[in-house]
Amino acid sequence: MTKLNEKSPVNDGTATGPAAARHDKDSPTAVLIGVTGGLGHALARLLAAEGFRLVLAARREHDAAEIAGKSDGSAIYVRADVTDPASLEKLAVTAFEHLGRIDAVVNLAGISPRKPIEDYTLSDVDDLLAINVKGPIFVTQAFLPGLRKQASDGVIVHIGGAMDGRVALPFMSAYAATRGALASYVQGANRELEGTNVSLSFFGPAPSNTESESPFFDMWKKMGVDLCEPDEVARDILATIRQRRKEHVMGGALLKMMTLMNAISPSAADAIGLRKFGKLIKQYSPR
Ligand SMILES: NC(=O)c1ccc[n+]([C@@H]2O[C@H](COP(=O)([O-])OP(=O)(O)OC[C@H]3O[C@@H](n4cnc5c(N)ncnc54)[C@H](OP(=O)(O)O)[C@@H]3O)[C@@H](O)[C@H]2O)c1
Repeated sequence: MTKLNEKSPVNDGTATGPAAARHDKDSPTAVLIGVTGGLGHALARLLAAEGFRLVLAARREHDAAEIAGKSDGSAIYVRADVTDPASLEKLAVTAFEHLGRIDAVVNLAGISPRKPIEDYTLSDVDDLLAINVKGPIFVTQAFLPGLRKQASDGVIVHIGGAMDGRVALPFMSAYAATRGALASYVQGANRELEGTNVSLSFFGPAPSNTESESPFFDMWKKMGVDLCEPDEVARDILATIRQRRKEHVMGGALLKMMTLMNAISPSAADAIGLRKFGKLIKQYSPR
């Protein structure tokens, strides 16, 4: 039987081979929600190449084979909206019927409007709360009953913002609030789920070379933060699934140091760099 934490070599998501060809009931399984963006594509292709059977989802119609990079029937696509609990219930029913057991649910649906405090509109705030905060709660509630019932372990990975969700950068205030809420939700849920077969994960990707992040490439460069390739993010998500990490913060020394300093003392984090970052970020959030 394929063990989820088996250390198989990770390839770039396009290669085929023995692991890619095997799609029996013992293959690992995952549901990827919000899969049609840059990070979702990279993750779907990596997991498909690693032999996972997949259920892929987002709001708009898409082709499973195109996203997963394979047309061998190992992936299906279902439309779902994380702001709508009924749509997630249907997705969960379809996913358990199709996959049998679910090893991992990865929720990549998210938005990140970045603006001065006064400029967040009612619609921005409603969408942020609906997609970034209620979404992960509804995804967890939709899949948890089935995951608890199955004999094997299951992990729900929620993709948050950069770092641990608690480093709130200026000109991102309302957005940052939603990532902090997600980090607290994951922590509280994990304390409640202690000793069960299910755990949650907060995954903080490093800023990545994706279309959605492209307006900020220059900003990250000026801040000294290296952009990650989506394939690298996908490999770290796979490691998070296999190792059942409850939190994973991506990035080099700078992002990791900011995360640690901010957790110990936000004013010390300001002193060593966050205040300086604020001036730079302001240039990318014109009024
Ligand atoms: N790229 C980065 O550098 C970076 C850094 C840190 C964090 N993140 C976070 O990582 C996640 C994925 O990033 P990405 O670059 O791949 O983002 P993206 O290109 O914006 O993709 C977002 C995905 O979420 C889906 N989505 C949006 N609202 C949804 C809803 N209500 N229900 C279901 N699906 C929904 C979108 O498809 P539909 O519109 O068809 O539903 C799309 O598949 C996001 O949460 C993002 O904020 C990204």
